[in-house]
Amino acid sequence: MIIFKSINKLNKEVNFKANIGFVPTMGSLHKGHISLIKSSKKICQKTMVSIFINPSQFNKKSDLMSYPRNLKKDIRILNELKIDYLLVPNAKEVYKKNIKKKINLNKKDKIMCAKHRPGHFEGVLAVINQFLERLKPKYIFFGEKDYQQLYLIKKLINKKFKTKIISCSTIRDKNKVALSSRNTLLTHNDMKKSSFVAKLLINFKNKLKKSIYLKKNLNKIIFEINNLKNIKIEYLEIRSKNNLSKVFNKNNFKIFIAYYNNKIRLIDNY
Ligand code: PAF
Repeated sequence: MIIFKSINKLNKEVNFKANIGFVPTMGSLHKGHISLIKSSKKICQKTMVSIFINPSQFNKKSDLMSYPRNLKKDIRILNELKIDYLLVPNAKEVYKKNIKKKINLNKKDKIMCAKHRPGHFEGVLAVINQFLERLKPKYIFFGEKDYQQLYLIKKLINKKFKTKIISCSTIRDKNKVALSSRNTLLTHNDMKKSSFVAKLLINFKNKLKKSIYLKKNLNKIIFEINNLKNIKIEYLEIRSKNNLSKVFNKNNFKIFIAYYNNKIRLIDNY
């Protein structure tokens, strides 16, 4: 594995005419990232991973400061996976002079996380735009756990780039909690509550698949989750999985949640 700090150096070294798969991450790698990397290795000749904690997508400084960082362990994992290239740029390298740190969203996209974390997706889109303008991978990989992120990035890529986007299913632990780098900030007891939330919503989803009119029970579910100690829902919504609108039927909906578990903000979808 060759490690680069400079995007220009990486560009000189890597032949982007080859079939290159790119997995952008913010590090603290877990099995979710590993499944993205394995998908890339399956369909691409070479796999490139980036680790960059993108400051422009954090709307709170405290969240940026406490975001988990595990570079040494990440490098060990990537070496074991035998990826080809690792990019670890710093913020100056990514946001060179006059580079926009935000890309605006349409008004109709300012829902769920976009509404509650103003500026977050604007920062995500800016960094992905930067990477794809300066690197030209054939494929880019994202997880469905960040479903709204995936939806917005798909729109950006389809409009501007030739890179093909591949989405991979959410990976869950044995207690149904979606894997996330932020889980390392949770205690054993917090994880038990996240497991309760996940199982409750998976069960609710299965009921809705049979009879969508049961969506009227959403408020009861919100009440039940908010009743857990140190748990506070930010939003819990049912939307179309195709365009995230509130027009859906029993075949095309998803349940989306963002909540605080002991002050750690978690998201998931079912
Ligand atoms: O999902 C993430 O880890 C980040 O939002 C991403 C896509 C790497 C952009 O910084």
